[in-house]
Amino acid sequence: MKYKKLGLNGPEISTVGFGAWGISGRDWGNTDDDNSRRAIHAALDAGVTFIDTADVYGFGHSEELIRQVLDERSNRKDIVIATKAGNNFYPYLGQKHKTTPINNDYSVKHLEFAAEQSIKRLNVEALDILQLHSPNSDILERDEPWMALERLKKAGKIKHAGWSVQSFQETATAHILDRHHELIDVIQVRYNLLERQAEEVLFPTALKYGTGVIVRIPLLFGLLAGKFNRSTVFGDNDHRKSNLSPEKMAGYLRDFSKYQPFFDKYPDYSYAQLSLRFCISHPAAHVVIPGGKTEKQVQENVVASDLDFIPFDAFTKYSTV
Ligand SMILES: NC(=O)c1ccc[n+]([C@@H]2O[C@H](COP(=O)([O-])OP(=O)(O)OC[C@H]3O[C@@H](n4cnc5c(N)ncnc54)[C@H](OP(=O)(O)O)[C@@H]3O)[C@@H](O)[C@H]2O)c1
Repeated sequence: MKYKKLGLNGPEISTVGFGAWGISGRDWGNTDDDNSRRAIHAALDAGVTFIDTADVYGFGHSEELIRQVLDERSNRKDIVIATKAGNNFYPYLGQKHKTTPINNDYSVKHLEFAAEQSIKRLNVEALDILQLHSPNSDILERDEPWMALERLKKAGKIKHAGWSVQSFQETATAHILDRHHELIDVIQVRYNLLERQAEEVLFPTALKYGTGVIVRIPLLFGLLAGKFNRSTVFGDNDHRKSNLSPEKMAGYLRDFSKYQPFFDKYPDYSYAQLSLRFCISHPAAHVVIPGGKTEKQVQENVVASDLDFIPFDAFTKYSTV
């Protein structure tokens, strides 16, 4: 496992982290908590020191599972946890929903409340990183979300301020980093072999300011592990039913097949490992956070950290963007 500083102001972390949405018990089909805890343990056993979550994942359940695992570890203080806030799920607690409802609230009042709740669930004195959870461009233009992060930082409730960039708005909203780069220590970006918009403006901007960059959805929800085909069907309680609908799946699979000659060059490594390696081979990227549902997936994914002999250029000629 390789380690890197998460940008100029960020902590030192492993270059492969653990994405904790999939284990939350919502939006990804049925999960088993024992299995999920074992997956997190497997990541930590392999040297992972970075976990990404959000308050809304499983309505707090993802954060709770992480805390339960960390309570059993002796190196608790070495693990950096990045969480998020801005989707106010609290009114829905106790209700049944097939997938998570959206209820945006980036007011100072809500973000301060949400940070306190995450502090309690994670049982920490201050959050390592709190990210605004993918606000849309209207919200990004307001002062309130940024004021909230500033106040939380000043009050010692958060160590680092983050912004999780809304999917497919990477170029349109990159100017926000110019405006708030002194406050934002870390951004989180959707970036993978088939979705490379972040390379246009956002990554160069992050490099200019030394902003930490977390790469999410690196396996395109599992597709880049090479395990789906046009007949794959997802359940009603799995967000992939719409995010990998048959039409989207067909387009993604077509683009994925263009990388086959690249995968063929590295027969010792899996599709997942090589796809993850791509995400951290860009000079702006510091950590990739594949979601891991099982020990086996996690053990496969962590290998990507050590494939640093494959340069970024090796991927580019198969690019579809
Ligand atoms: N707006 C935001 O801020 C935002 C949005 C999305 C994600 N995120 C963060 O980014 C993290 C990563 O993204 P993601 O979890 O959505 O997508 P992802 O990492 O691209 O895909 C994760 C899924 O792929 C499958 N998988 C993982 N490793 C595998 C392997 N080696 N072989 C086969 N299948 C494998 C698992 O699902 P199955 O086994 O069920 O197929 C897993 O849940 C999230 O967990 C979350 O922390 C943030």
